[in-house]
Amino acid sequence: MNGMAPARLRLGVNIDHVATVRNARGGDHPDPVRAAEIVASVGGDGITAHLREDRRHIRDEDIARIQAATNLPLNLEMAATDEMVAIALRHRPHAACLVPERREERTTEGGLDAAGQHNRLAPIVARLSDAGIRVSLFIAPDPIQIEAAIRLGAPVVELHTGEYAHAGDDTRAHELRRIAEMAALAARNGIEPHAGHGLTYDNVQPVAAIPQLAELNIGHYLIGEAIFTGLAEAVRRMRDLMDQAR
Ligand code: PXP
Repeated sequence: MNGMAPARLRLGVNIDHVATVRNARGGDHPDPVRAAEIVASVGGDGITAHLREDRRHIRDEDIARIQAATNLPLNLEMAATDEMVAIALRHRPHAACLVPERREERTTEGGLDAAGQHNRLAPIVARLSDAGIRVSLFIAPDPIQIEAAIRLGAPVVELHTGEYAHAGDDTRAHELRRIAEMAALAARNGIEPHAGHGLTYDNVQPVAAIPQLAELNIGHYLIGEAIFTGLAEAVRRMRDLMDQAR
């Protein structure tokens, strides 16, 4: 990429919380595979799912089922551990997004410290890349982390939009500027910038308007809205808002 805006901002739908509801009763319903099929039927561009160490979202067997259910690319979010690397190498998702993971957190609370963990991450990025998996690093919008992603040879970074999403009126513009500047810095260095975390109908448009961004990954809010309007309608509405912002 040369800093030009990608033609279309892709929407990756994170279906973890369909699995969270399923797991609440330990059975098979609601099935995240059905969610993936609905996302595909309304023009979603990808499926994102996080196989956590404690399996509280998707379970191991869901990976192959999700891959088989649609032609959409699967972006597997995973901790940078030997266990998860082995699973990714077995299933070869389109992309693997390396995220920090702490067992006690409710969700992925911060970005990956790509700068501080270079030596641990370098062989993992290399092994996944060698297997043809597109590696993405989920990082804070911080120049130190972008520089670390460049050194690691990651083709994609996903910029953490949580600080922006949770900012008050006094800091929101500042947080948005950080995301815009880091998207531009990544693109100038040949890295495809994505963004995600905490995005909603109300806050997505300023992020979607950042021209270098190629993809947004959105989960919790969409699955929550799906309870009221259905998943197809929720994905369509998010898609419309993203398109209007470009
Ligand atoms: N991107 C990454 C790397 C994430 O870890 C998450 C949350 O699982 C998301 C995007 C989606 O965030 P949210 O569920 O808040 O939309």
